[in-house]
Amino acid sequence: MKTRITVLCDNIVGLKSPLLGEHGLAMLIERGREAYLFDTGQGQTLFHNAISLGKDLRKAKKIFLSHGHYDHTGGLEKVVSLKGEKDIFVHPHAFLPRFAVEKGKEHKKRNIGMRISKRTLEEMEGRIHLTDSFKEVAKGIYLTGEIPRINSFERGDEDLKIELNGKLVQDVCLDDQSLVIESRKGLIILFGCAHAGIVNTLIYIQEKMDTRKIFALMGGTHLNSDGEYRLRETFRYLKDLNFKKLGLSHCTGMTAVNHLMNLLKERVFIAHTGFTFEV
Ligand SMILES: [Fe+2]
Ligand SMILES: [Fe+2]
Repeated sequence: MKTRITVLCDNIVGLKSPLLGEHGLAMLIERGREAYLFDTGQGQTLFHNAISLGKDLRKAKKIFLSHGHYDHTGGLEKVVSLKGEKDIFVHPHAFLPRFAVEKGKEHKKRNIGMRISKRTLEEMEGRIHLTDSFKEVAKGIYLTGEIPRINSFERGDEDLKIELNGKLVQDVCLDDQSLVIESRKGLIILFGCAHAGIVNTLIYIQEKMDTRKIFALMGGTHLNSDGEYRLRETFRYLKDLNFKKLGLSHCTGMTAVNHLMNLLKERVFIAHTGFTFEV
């Protein structure tokens, strides 16, 4: 069966494109008659872009959420309000209060959590499936659930905070999960922000799946946090990894994009708003 992936929301959009860009991420996965959404962006561009690209979001009955940040979950309310039942797959931590707090600017705490509660989604007849472990969520499609943090260089972004038991602590984003799609050419792995780290994520996925044949990696990789050590180690890992395509987008950061283009040449591309590929 063919798999088609279309980027519906991303930070980058072509100059003359009729599509809109925003800081956020959403991808549409189409397989046969089935359609799924991976994230929903901030909510300001999802519908405009979907309509412009001729995509009917009513067909996406299952929504997989990479984590509970506003730029991945902002379009959720509108998607769920579309006619038809919706299944939402999300880690329980996604609904907790989340903030971005820069060091030395603690008074400028920015709310970056989900704008809609679990209760409201349920009142709207959204069916919530809490996923904290590796699980097949549709035929040949898997959500990783919590990803074990096994290396010393993917420590997480210190500016990210979460409210746990009334206390604001560093948010290691336990809710961060990636989507794994089995395709004719090998696994396609979609990252939201990859707050767990792409190396931790890829090691875990290869452990869980019978095949190590990876075709494509795509999405936000948050490589701008954690400094040079992380970049170096991540590049080293990717250089040795056997895969065909790496589509960078969203929170990857231009420094990392430039390095990766130099390192991996034509295998790397920008997965901008409207980008689509079929396997
Ligand atoms: Fe993000
Ligand atoms: Fe994020």
